[in-house]
Amino acid sequence: MHDFKYVEGELFCEEMRVEEIAPKVGTPFYLYSSKTLVDHYRKLDKAFSSLPHLVCYSLKANSNLAMCKLLAQEGAGADVVSSGELFKALKAGMPAQRIVFAGVGKTEEEIEYALKAQILMLNVESVPELDLINEVAGRLGKKAQVSLRVNPDVDPQTHAYVATGRKENKFGLSMEVARELFERRAEFTHLKMVGVHAHIGSQITSVRPYVEALQKIVVFIKDLERGGIKLEYLNVGGGMGIVYETEIPSTAEEFARALLPLIKQVQAKVILEPGRFIVGNAGILVTRVLYVKKTAVKTFVIVDAGMNDLIRPSLYGTYHEIRPTSGRKGTMPESDKKLIVADIVGPICESGDFFARDREIPEVEGGQLLAIFGAGAYGFSMSSNYNCRPRPPEVLVKGDKFQVIREREKYEDLIRGEV
Ligand code: LLP
Repeated sequence: MHDFKYVEGELFCEEMRVEEIAPKVGTPFYLYSSKTLVDHYRKLDKAFSSLPHLVCYSLKANSNLAMCKLLAQEGAGADVVSSGELFKALKAGMPAQRIVFAGVGKTEEEIEYALKAQILMLNVESVPELDLINEVAGRLGKKAQVSLRVNPDVDPQTHAYVATGRKENKFGLSMEVARELFERRAEFTHLKMVGVHAHIGSQITSVRPYVEALQKIVVFIKDLERGGIKLEYLNVGGGMGIVYETEIPSTAEEFARALLPLIKQVQAKVILEPGRFIVGNAGILVTRVLYVKKTAVKTFVIVDAGMNDLIRPSLYGTYHEIRPTSGRKGTMPESDKKLIVADIVGPICESGDFFARDREIPEVEGGQLLAIFGAGAYGFSMSSNYNCRPRPPEVLVKGDKFQVIREREKYEDLIRGEV
């Protein structure tokens, strides 16, 4: 599943000992495995190999250039939601003709940038947006390729903040409106409506909501076909879940097995937009214990990473496995010492700054290193400078070598652009 493994009680990333990297880069830091990243991409790519398909890696999960470049070398495209992400995807060598652009609030500048860069298509989420793209394309003398993002109104059974395919969510167009727009396509003289897009949510562990959504979309596309409208692309979005705790997410093969028969009914080229599935388990956050503080009611393990570095537990209440990076020589950390129940917290001035609450962990002391697992997706990409904390470096391991792929921010970075 990933390449972070304990060998004789010591945590390794591929063939690198985590404790060997820490003193060289300082803590906290993000640590990624190139092998895990590429393996996950390949799993998905292979699962869909029986059909013409395009895997557009979702940059919002982790947009580090080196990571994107590794995926570009594998043939990945990109799913972007801002001109900043588009800029990074192009910089990383992702071909424009494999880039799709989603999001409910694209600005005129972003639309212009995307059209000038000649990306594969924009995924359109509202009628005024469609009008604006038509207008901008006309001004630039271009024909813009677009897909309409539909909202299939299904329950993805995930955290409410990342459910995107229910009718009360801000995303996509209702099937009725989308149908009407396809029928009126001749009016949009500077557009080419080439496909349908749907993204129903994130960290979805079952294929069921996908099947439910796709069944509706297949009916929708067949209906269009009867009306003489033939689509080239079917974008099924991202959202495939990973293991953080005890989840049993569907595998790439299970996912493909459930979806392929439906997709084959409409003979469109399929686009996938996975983020977390590819990069989630390819990264950990390594942090050092500063203090262990015991109060009348709790034990707090205070570490040098904070919610500004990894906000997922604070924002969504999500679980991340946390383990010491080493135990006594030759033993697993858990068999080393007695277990304690503690809150693992950062230095930030908010009670919401925690990585785990009432968590059973081996007794730790100041100076020890902890690994926070499953931090490759929506870790660094959601980090901030809150409390004026320079953001941590990102480090990439390949075999028995590591490289800093983003430097730790300096104090100067904290005031850049300020007057
Ligand atoms: N495509 C679209 C249109 C999206 O909005 C997203 C994610 C993806 C693809 C990729 O989803 P993935 O395969 O990574 O699940 N910050 C949250 C997750 C937010 C997801 C937003 N949209 C978290 O930390 O769980």
